Amino acid sequence: MNTHATIRLEHVTKRFALGPDGGFTAVEDVSLEVLAGEFVSVVGPSGCGKSTVLGMVSGLLPPSAGRILVEGEAVAGINKRLGYLFQRDALFPWKTILDNVAVPLLFRGWNARTARARAHEWIQRVGLAGFEGYHPHRLSGGMRKRVSLAT
Ligand SMILES: Nc1ncnc2c1ncn2[C@@H]1O[C@H](COP(=O)(O)OP(=O)(O)OP(=O)(O)O)[C@@H](O)[C@H]1O
Ligand SMILES: [Mg+2]
Repeated sequence: MNTHATIRLEHVTKRFALGPDGGFTAVEDVSLEVLAGEFVSVVGPSGCGKSTVLGMVSGLLPPSAGRILVEGEAVAGINKRLGYLFQRDALFPWKTILDNVAVPLLFRGWNARTARARAHEWIQRVGLAGFEGYHPHRLSGGMRKRVSLAT
């Protein structure tokens, strides 16, 4: 049985250093718990710190104070078990949709043939079958988001 929260933030603060003039506090004293199977939305005005919180949970940004636990373990660097869909897509413009989806699989050590087969499956799952040979600039914003989801 899973007794700890899937994601737990304890008094998390993020302060960005801004040169000699000091810094900017983007997130201050946030505590939050997400249980297994819960679907949680974080809502707030633009610039209130939502992406900063997610960046810290994903391990991309270290918190300045407080503690973040994912599945009971303190976040220390990027967690490969955790999926994170960026606000802005991070597709390679020079690669086709198929190659964009295959890249992370290749990084994980899959051979090219298996990676391509898996990439085809995921492209189908996100409803983009037939677009494998397109480059990102030929897709709509929503389609690009779905490619990101497939990666
Ligand atoms: N790397 C950074 N350095 C300095 N300030 C930053 C940095 N990243 C974010 N900020 C500041 O932190 C605040 C929160 O930014 P964040 O991107 O978390 O907002 P958000 O809630 O995701 O906004 P949006 O709804 O527009 O996506 C903003 O004021 C932003 O200018
Ligand atoms: Mg954001």
